[in-house]
Amino acid sequence: VPTAGFVGWRGMVGSVLMQRMQDEGDFDLINPVFFSTSNAGGSAPDFAQGAGTLEDAYDIETLAKLPIIVTAQGGDYTSEVYPKLRDAGWDGLWIDAASTLRMDESAIIVLDPVNRDVIDAGLARGVKNFVGGNCTVSCMLMGLGGLFRNGLVEWGTSMTYQAASGGGARHMRELLNQFGSLNSAVAANLADPASAILEIDRAVLAQQKDPSMDSSQFGVPLAGSVIPWIDADLGNGQSKEEWKGGAETNKILGRNTAGAARIPFDGLCVRIGAMRSHSQALTLKLTEDLSVAEIERIIDADNEWAKVVPNTKEATMEQLTPVAVTGTLDIPVGRIRKLEMGPEYISAFTIGDQLLWGAAEPLRRMLRIATG
Ligand code: HSE
Repeated sequence: VPTAGFVGWRGMVGSVLMQRMQDEGDFDLINPVFFSTSNAGGSAPDFAQGAGTLEDAYDIETLAKLPIIVTAQGGDYTSEVYPKLRDAGWDGLWIDAASTLRMDESAIIVLDPVNRDVIDAGLARGVKNFVGGNCTVSCMLMGLGGLFRNGLVEWGTSMTYQAASGGGARHMRELLNQFGSLNSAVAANLADPASAILEIDRAVLAQQKDPSMDSSQFGVPLAGSVIPWIDADLGNGQSKEEWKGGAETNKILGRNTAGAARIPFDGLCVRIGAMRSHSQALTLKLTEDLSVAEIERIIDADNEWAKVVPNTKEATMEQLTPVAVTGTLDIPVGRIRKLEMGPEYISAFTIGDQLLWGAAEPLRRMLRIATG
């Protein structure tokens, strides 16, 4: 049984990863060694493989004994530890959730239902770094991979509705605290059906603008609002999250190499008050005039998780919301229709749990591929 080291298994993404590995019996197939950045020597978790002791996540010598390291500890950890490990001559597999190494030449972005060919070719030529993609990109490609992989997308634009969890656990708490404080500010008036709605609205706005409402994680209130900027300002009008959309989509599809035609893919990324599922509205220009039925067939057939939602009000409301999707591996794709711009232009709306396909699942599956 191969041995793999785990770093960052206690955080939000790491916890989802551990849960999925237990659900799928992955701990029967590997011998885990758990590391900690703060509690070396403490007891390691026991996922039915027998408890052990936590190793020090900064101890290069111990890390370097492992053939595989899986980390969900975050980008700062990767920046600090990864170069030291390679400098020490370690040539094991590095499976990472953080974006640090994603666009590096040495790394493959893993999303095997979409790019198993790229992963297999990489393993065959000795690639050692396998990094999970940006959550929005991974969820989009899980849903619409069929169109991309069949060369049917001439260009695409995605307008996102990204959940609080993308910022981290503290962001989710802050959002809920904001919702609570807005409700408290107007609870008495709300309970009275005869109260004036504009009065309530004024009180909500006053509370949103009150410095006492904690917005330290998001920077501005998110509850009852939206924030049309995610991640760093690249200084060219584009956010880093938006840049990732185009760069990573093409890299996952193996179109970042010389000679491969890049698919233009761009749009605006927006934070909304959902908990942990990212949604996105897409406009795609297809390379040919396919019928909606054919488009739906290609999307549905691409992988077992992509599910076409009929483009009706009832099905959309029942199946195509963050609430319907969260906690499942399903990637529903709905609102598929031809747009007025012409027969090759379609809309689509897709949603994915940002912590499952958006983070933990591609890593879990890569570990399975790596351990054969
Ligand atoms: N950058 C994403 C977000 C999460 O903020 O929603 C991780 O890919």
